[in-house]
Amino acid sequence: MKHLLSPQDLSIEELSNLLALAHDISINPTKYHHVCNGKKLATLFYEPSTRTRLSFESAMINLGGSVLGFSSADSSSAAKGESVSDTIRVISCYADICAMRHPKEGAPMVAASKSRIPVINAGDGGHQHPTQTLTDLMTIHELRGSLENFTIGLCGDLKFGRTVHSLIHSLIRYNNIKFILISPKELRVPDYMIETLKDNNISYKEVEKLEDVMTELDILYMTRVQRERFFNEDDYLRMKDFYILDKAKMELAKPDMYVLHPLPRVNEISVEVDNDPRAAYFKQAQYGVYVRMALIMILLGLSVD
Ligand code: CP
Repeated sequence: MKHLLSPQDLSIEELSNLLALAHDISINPTKYHHVCNGKKLATLFYEPSTRTRLSFESAMINLGGSVLGFSSADSSSAAKGESVSDTIRVISCYADICAMRHPKEGAPMVAASKSRIPVINAGDGGHQHPTQTLTDLMTIHELRGSLENFTIGLCGDLKFGRTVHSLIHSLIRYNNIKFILISPKELRVPDYMIETLKDNNISYKEVEKLEDVMTELDILYMTRVQRERFFNEDDYLRMKDFYILDKAKMELAKPDMYVLHPLPRVNEISVEVDNDPRAAYFKQAQYGVYVRMALIMILLGLSVD
């Protein structure tokens, strides 16, 4: 049985197959409407979510399956002190596959070690968010036709942003990707990730000002400052509006530089950018349904003729 706890759990070949399946789903959705008949997905969300939980549920319903679950720790027996290990043993009796989001790094890994069903990490603390990465990879592939030979700027909270950590870990496996890491000093990527970039001879630089690098970028990946991960509200307030992408900054960018954002956004992308044809973040949310449909099928070992 396979779980998805980090993007590296899938080989490049498996990723390629998953993205090809997600693409086929996007153009032939009716072909897949019954592939999960009789199957159940449990969404175990100990932390708030709009896109991840609802796109997982939408994905399973699109495949003909059913969904059950909880959307906050307070509405589950975690509020009474039940451990993740006990919860997953019980959920294994009720569902065929589950997606878990948890504020503690490693919680989905603990669950996977006790589970009788595939466990998908739907975001664990500031650590990883592999299905967002699948969404990001599909978006880049659909927009550019390839996952090679481009410069990506990752901007905002690179310290706590789990989507950034997962995306970097995934993209370093493709050829000729250059990283520009754009953040205030306090929110730089963790040292272990810089070591990973160095160990793999990946081209990267760290900068503070977005304007200075706009002309170099093929993809700009904006992120929210993660209020829920700060220990000190004053630090959050000082940094929350450090970056605001607006029309003036977009004028500096290449005509085919796409803007991605895992969402939710707060202030970091002005709504005036939404109508720019290079703004791809709502399209990205749609791709999130297709990759999750493909992932559910693959982890359950299902296919269509
Ligand atoms: N991108 C993402 O994880 O969004 P949600 O927190 O709404 O699930």
